[in-house]
Amino acid sequence: MRKIDVSPSLLAADFLHLEKEIAHCEKAHVGYLHFDVMDGHFVPNISFGLPVLKSLARRHSLINDVHIMISDPLTYGPQFAKAGADIVTFHYEALKNDAERWDVIHAIKKAGAKVGMSVKPQTEANVLIDFLPQLDLVLIMSVEPGFGGQSFMPSSLPKIVFIRDIIDRHGYPTLIEVDGGIQEDTAKLCVRAGVDILVAGSYLFGHDDFNERVTALRLG
Ligand code: DX5
Ligand code: ZN
Repeated sequence: MRKIDVSPSLLAADFLHLEKEIAHCEKAHVGYLHFDVMDGHFVPNISFGLPVLKSLARRHSLINDVHIMISDPLTYGPQFAKAGADIVTFHYEALKNDAERWDVIHAIKKAGAKVGMSVKPQTEANVLIDFLPQLDLVLIMSVEPGFGGQSFMPSSLPKIVFIRDIIDRHGYPTLIEVDGGIQEDTAKLCVRAGVDILVAGSYLFGHDDFNERVTALRLG
């Protein structure tokens, strides 16, 4: 039975009370903390960057799951690793060709972090196949990246099933994460399709029943 974990997205947190919000995550016994880094170029939004990660990364007990929605992951991916990211997940679409994608994978690993690759909703999952043996994580976007609070895109489900099948057939240790519009019902669909980690922002933050919501996601 696969262990389902949750990665709360800080993008939806109350930035005036980040310490308290992170404490909520620890008390809910999630395994990860999801940092959505946006550069206003790869996605039409700007969130936060290296200084925020540096100040938070080593002051809690969760795995720093850093999702970089940026145009230059080769330059900045390793810097996020050095700033405290345990996993740095970059976007397939941010690079022009596979050689560049391999460069980013090697650079992030060399900087001491695990590496993930993410695909947007319009990108086919089969582009990931050759990278899987070297990826610690695959992030299937179930919304167009750039904003929290969007609706789940069911077209992400067959992509999860496809990747799950390859990972299981080859026995890769790669984790599958899904991100965007995750709440109780969509979590169930994603767990059934084969995910390991559920990212959730607006479903978790800003609600008094944080722990119960985490449990509801896990029961998927
Ligand atoms: C979107 C981000 C997601 C988003 C999740 O670009 O990658 O992590 O913040 O937020 P919800 O769970 O509200 O869709
Ligand atoms: Zn994200």
